[in-house]
Amino acid sequence: MKKLIWANFKMYKNMSELKDYFTKFNQEYAWNDTVDVVVAPMMVNMMLASEMISSKINLWSQNMHPNDIWAYTGETSPLNLKELWVKYVILWHSERRTLFGESDAFVNEKVKSALKHWLRPILCIWETLEEKQSEKTYEVLERQIKLWLKDISDIAMVDIAYEPVWAIGTGLSATPEYVMQVHNFIRWLIWNQESRIIYWWSVNDSNAKDLISQKDVNWFLIGSASLDPTKFINIINTSK
Ligand code: PGA
Repeated sequence: MKKLIWANFKMYKNMSELKDYFTKFNQEYAWNDTVDVVVAPMMVNMMLASEMISSKINLWSQNMHPNDIWAYTGETSPLNLKELWVKYVILWHSERRTLFGESDAFVNEKVKSALKHWLRPILCIWETLEEKQSEKTYEVLERQIKLWLKDISDIAMVDIAYEPVWAIGTGLSATPEYVMQVHNFIRWLIWNQESRIIYWWSVNDSNAKDLISQKDVNWFLIGSASLDPTKFINIINTSK
């Protein structure tokens, strides 16, 4: 299976910054067929990105609404994403839960809708510090996967991203060995080899090599370190 490196730009990069980014990326990145590179700009910049990205990379969306067309002000339909040749959609980032209060049932609807439209969903899962300290990590991850993938038979079409949110801003960090154990557990839980299990917390050009050398840690979802094209290319090259 090919390695996969995803860049999440969140609300960063206005139009002119994005133009500069892709100009530099297209000049500096030498494509190789062992890594799939995917980028997710802000929704408002998707059109620009789809015009500027070279065939070396793919586009993904940071979010979508499960409905095709309806009166939902401010939302994006899966049909719009398909028009822009988007291939992947992230569902659901921890920020959607903590800051926007999306429910388990809503995530499940989004996953079903993405699969119906042949958009490959990436489902983010995590445990809090309290859950980790009370040794509930596996129970919590299992619960999330069961609820969010309820009534979905084709789990092999879904990728799973693990984020130890307990390490954010606490000075704690997840060791590569810990990440590997959790990824092994997720692999056992989903019971298929086609889903990719992605590591997603503070990956940068210093820790990427150690992480990628662990079994079943072959994919990264990268936020801040992807905002600089040179750093991002370094991570991709380290991960070959
Ligand atoms: P980070 O963000 O790499 O800055 O931790 C990843 C994300 O939240 O998508």
